[in-house]
Amino acid sequence: MSPANKDHFVSTEAALLDLDFICAALAGSYWARDRPRPVVERSIRNSLCFGLYGKRSRMQLGFARVVTDGATFSWRCDVVIDARHRKKGLGKFLVSSVIAHPDVSGTTCLLGTRDAHGLYEKFGFARSEQMRRPRPSQGSKPRLPDRASRDGMLPAVRKARHP
Ligand SMILES: CC(C)(COP(=O)(O)OP(=O)(O)OC[C@H]1O[C@@H](n2cnc3c(N)ncnc32)[C@H](O)[C@@H]1OP(=O)(O)O)[C@@H](O)C(=O)NCCC(=O)NCCS
Repeated sequence: MSPANKDHFVSTEAALLDLDFICAALAGSYWARDRPRPVVERSIRNSLCFGLYGKRSRMQLGFARVVTDGATFSWRCDVVIDARHRKKGLGKFLVSSVIAHPDVSGTTCLLGTRDAHGLYEKFGFARSEQMRRPRPSQGSKPRLPDRASRDGMLPAVRKARHP
């Protein structure tokens, strides 16, 4: 999927993502400034990610990440536009591309923001109270099971829930 305007396009193509840009952009954010690069990489691998690029430069200028089941629920997170390119409509272009994606458009979409409510209200988001269990603090080591051991856990979980 590649929505485009005159000078930019948005793509979910993983090969186009510029990890250095994404890590630098997140390091400048208020919510992910301490997120280690391996955690960023893993979050990208396991999410639907959107890059916003200049058509001519091919440089990445924006990033958004969505965790979605593709059917009922999605969580939109890590939306960021390069600081030198803000206030030109790129944030709106990126968010509109995200919510138009077929794995997002039919879902209830949640997000958390400290101050960008006005941006999301333009796209039908409304304020509502949610319960939230935060990630363990950076002091405690993030637990990142590898895929093999994670998948190995699934049958036991299924069995426990549906004996
Ligand atoms: C938020 C962000 C993605 C917006 O991108 P942008 O390209 O500057 O935004 P746009 O030019 O498309 O315009 C955003 C619109 O939302 C509005 N808005 C409301 N709250 C806003 C906020 N906190 N920041 C930016 N825009 C905001 C703007 O006024 C503007 O409305 P307008 O078109 O009526 O003038 C960008 O400022 C950014 O990367 N900020 C740092 C990271 C961040 O805060 N991300 C969002 C976390 S949920």
